[in-house]
Amino acid sequence: MSAERHYSPVDRFLLQADAAMRTLLPFAGHPARPSPAIVQPDAELSEEDARHVAGLMRVNHTGEVCAQALYQGQALTAKLPNIRKAMEDAADEEVDHLAWCEQRIRELGSRPSLLNPLFYGMSFGVGAVAGLISDRVSLGFVAATEDQVCKHLDEHLAEIPAEDQKSRAILEQMRSDEQHHANSALDAGGLRFPAPVKLGMTLLSKVMTKTTYRI
Ligand SMILES: [Fe+2]
Ligand SMILES: [Fe+2]
Repeated sequence: MSAERHYSPVDRFLLQADAAMRTLLPFAGHPARPSPAIVQPDAELSEEDARHVAGLMRVNHTGEVCAQALYQGQALTAKLPNIRKAMEDAADEEVDHLAWCEQRIRELGSRPSLLNPLFYGMSFGVGAVAGLISDRVSLGFVAATEDQVCKHLDEHLAEIPAEDQKSRAILEQMRSDEQHHANSALDAGGLRFPAPVKLGMTLLSKVMTKTTYRI
């Protein structure tokens, strides 16, 4: 999408609705890069392990839903056109993660979280408000969120069974992409959030991970 093009409020609303549906409807996200899992061997997982990994991948999938919503909310209210463009490009990259996680959840015999619309709405609101405050706050939010996501990914990488190389390959590629997103947000002038704000975000993300592992 070109930053120079001018959209009417109705156009913008329709684009947002389209982006929301592409995030929330099953199999709606088309990845630009193939899943890193496809070149990995398939492993026989016990029923218990498959259920556990599916739960972890469901948490990661909801994290990606939140990332999409955050970026889309920020793009809506970003002040500088180049920041808006950066947010829209980042949201495009997260589509890969979203699609890879969903694919893996289905292979493990499960489904994405039923709570996704709720987390989408909350994250979209947070993104839009951050963008309204300032672009630096908005970019700071990206950096802090991606840091949080990297922590989850590290925990999950330590937890998934060694033989599940498909899930591992997906999480490792995501880990590297998210670190890159965090660094570029700080390079672009993002604020480094103080510890209490980060603590609040950690607590919120705990609520998300605890609920979506099961529901
Ligand atoms: Fe992501
Ligand atoms: Fe990211």
